[in-house]
Amino acid sequence: MATIPVASRTLRGRLDCAREQTDALFELLAPNALYSRPIPERHRLIFYLGHLEAFDWNLICRKTLDVPSFHPAFDKLFEFGIDPPVGKAAEDQPSDWPTTSEVLAYNRRSRDRIDELLDQAPDQLVHVALEHRLMHAETLAYLLHNLPYDQKNSRAVSQVHAGSVGQSPMIPIPPGSTTLGQEPGAFGWDNEFARHTVHVPGFAIGKHKITNGQYMDFVRDGAAPPHFWTRHDGQWFYRGMFSETPLPFNAPVYVTHVEACAYAHWAGKHLPTEAQFHRAAYGTPEGHERAYPWGSAPPDATRGNFDFAGWDPVDVDATPAADSAFGVAQLVGNGWEWTATQFGPFPGFDAFPFYPGYSQNFFDEEHYVMKGGSARTAACLLRRSFRNWFRPDYPYVYASFRLVEN
Ligand SMILES: [Fe+2]
Repeated sequence: MATIPVASRTLRGRLDCAREQTDALFELLAPNALYSRPIPERHRLIFYLGHLEAFDWNLICRKTLDVPSFHPAFDKLFEFGIDPPVGKAAEDQPSDWPTTSEVLAYNRRSRDRIDELLDQAPDQLVHVALEHRLMHAETLAYLLHNLPYDQKNSRAVSQVHAGSVGQSPMIPIPPGSTTLGQEPGAFGWDNEFARHTVHVPGFAIGKHKITNGQYMDFVRDGAAPPHFWTRHDGQWFYRGMFSETPLPFNAPVYVTHVEACAYAHWAGKHLPTEAQFHRAAYGTPEGHERAYPWGSAPPDATRGNFDFAGWDPVDVDATPAADSAFGVAQLVGNGWEWTATQFGPFPGFDAFPFYPGYSQNFFDEEHYVMKGGSARTAACLLRRSFRNWFRPDYPYVYASFRLVEN
């Protein structure tokens, strides 16, 4: 299976691969962990077990192909996730949810019907189902990351890094234009349209993401430690997916937008805007733009820590083959990057009629754009136009940052 690049598979084959990816995540869970709620602002894990199939079933079979429901209560129960403000957790109990076997029976029946009817579904909707599932493969990883280690089956251990903090230069980016958004006709989510060009004045940007080691200076100066750090007997550790490791000083620090902004202020710099990120990542000294920071070659393992390559970050200077034309490192993979840009519509935005709330519900000035991708981001979501967004104080995301001088 690993020998065929995913991009060349049919959509049906790609959906099968994505299902294997999400099925494998649930197999990591110890018995009863399904009823845990590892992140207070998200549902219990049992919701996601039903949600992935309910989403595809509702979208493709029920709403598009008018197939009668065989379980209206589950169609509704598992239809949409939640994103309350931090601290406003849901209060349901495990006993409020159906049994695992009831959910698995619903899933089997939904999946069988979807597979029977998939050839009748518009390509765009199969793309939506596929990418929705792959996005959940990443957000499920955030949830599982926050489960106690004894509720996960894997014997994997998190990587230990030996690097030390070096100096990271600020790289000058000359004024120029940059293209935001997806080209007409290609698949993209509603928030990736319409494609447009933005002029970006000159600025300088950090060659590397800010590391745990650099952030340690900020913590020593009085800042609170990030969610991914913990301390035992005076020594700092990184809370990895499967184990704690001594804090990897040369790996990117994962922080909230609020923490990234505070660090930038402390350092006398700023977070890049979405347009500055695009200019540094995809612009070239010659003036043309690239599909990926490294050029036009599709993402592969030599270009970065993404596409489920691992569970935890690598050092910020570990993937030089992915540097952008301006010499900026790791703009894709090894941690999303916070931008200073609030999530909002591009000019000409038109909500997907079959999923009107996907983006529009978050145009609320309470979410910020992240670009790039993490170790758990699928290769297809590394496209230039893809936009991710989270609340500024949500601490569970594999989100890094770098600084600019304007
Ligand atoms: Fe979802």
